[in-house]
Amino acid sequence: MRSPIVAGNWKMNKTVEEAVDFVNQIKDHLPDPSVQETVLAAPTIALVPMVKAAQGSPLKIAAENCYYKDAGAYTGETSPTTLYSANIHHVILGHSERRRLFNENDQMINLKVHAALAAGLCPIVCCDDTMGRRVAGKKVHWVVSRILADLHDLKAADVEKVTIAYEPSWAIGTGESMDPAQAEEGCYLIRQTIADMYGDEIADNVRILYGGSVNTSNINRLMASEDIDGVLAGGASLDPDTFLNLVNH
Ligand code: PGA
Repeated sequence: MRSPIVAGNWKMNKTVEEAVDFVNQIKDHLPDPSVQETVLAAPTIALVPMVKAAQGSPLKIAAENCYYKDAGAYTGETSPTTLYSANIHHVILGHSERRRLFNENDQMINLKVHAALAAGLCPIVCCDDTMGRRVAGKKVHWVVSRILADLHDLKAADVEKVTIAYEPSWAIGTGESMDPAQAEEGCYLIRQTIADMYGDEIADNVRILYGGSVNTSNINRLMASEDIDGVLAGGASLDPDTFLNLVNH
């Protein structure tokens, strides 16, 4: 049985003080993690104080990115081992903004997924999709090839630690969410691809989230879908009351 996840992605927003205040406002109002997990991804500089503020609560703090090396001459990068040592156990990898604005490709994301798992982190791997590809009927090929490339060469035992976030680029930050039936179709396709790679049992245990303009009006219909195990919300995660409404939908 897959336990659902409601995750927030703040992107490059909030000061450290605002981040800690936010955690203090929500931490006593979250579901038991055995029923539903709550994850909040935040800018690197806010992570350590957020972990401290969240101590003893079910809230899990996530990084929005990390590098694929543990240490060395990589100015400006964050090591997965350093994240783990600071009690940060989740990391978003391959968000479409990283792919588009920072030229991250599948090969690099695959290296990051391996490095994150080796350091003990649970990666949330984003799989984007575009309207153009949907209209041209290329969606199937695209989603399958993304998953094959990003999860390449992972050990079966590690795949279950990975969460996938299916995020059509045109739905991100636009207020135009994907129709739940289409979102289900994308998430189902991802699960089938993982089943082809690792078998049904492992595919059944991998959590697959939908992301792209998730809000308090569409979360219930999205999460009612069989292959959608939760959401990754950007804009709707920035306000503590709205985020709590998503979490306790
Ligand atoms: P959005 O962002 O909810 O603001 O569309 C989602 C994301 O980028 O993960």
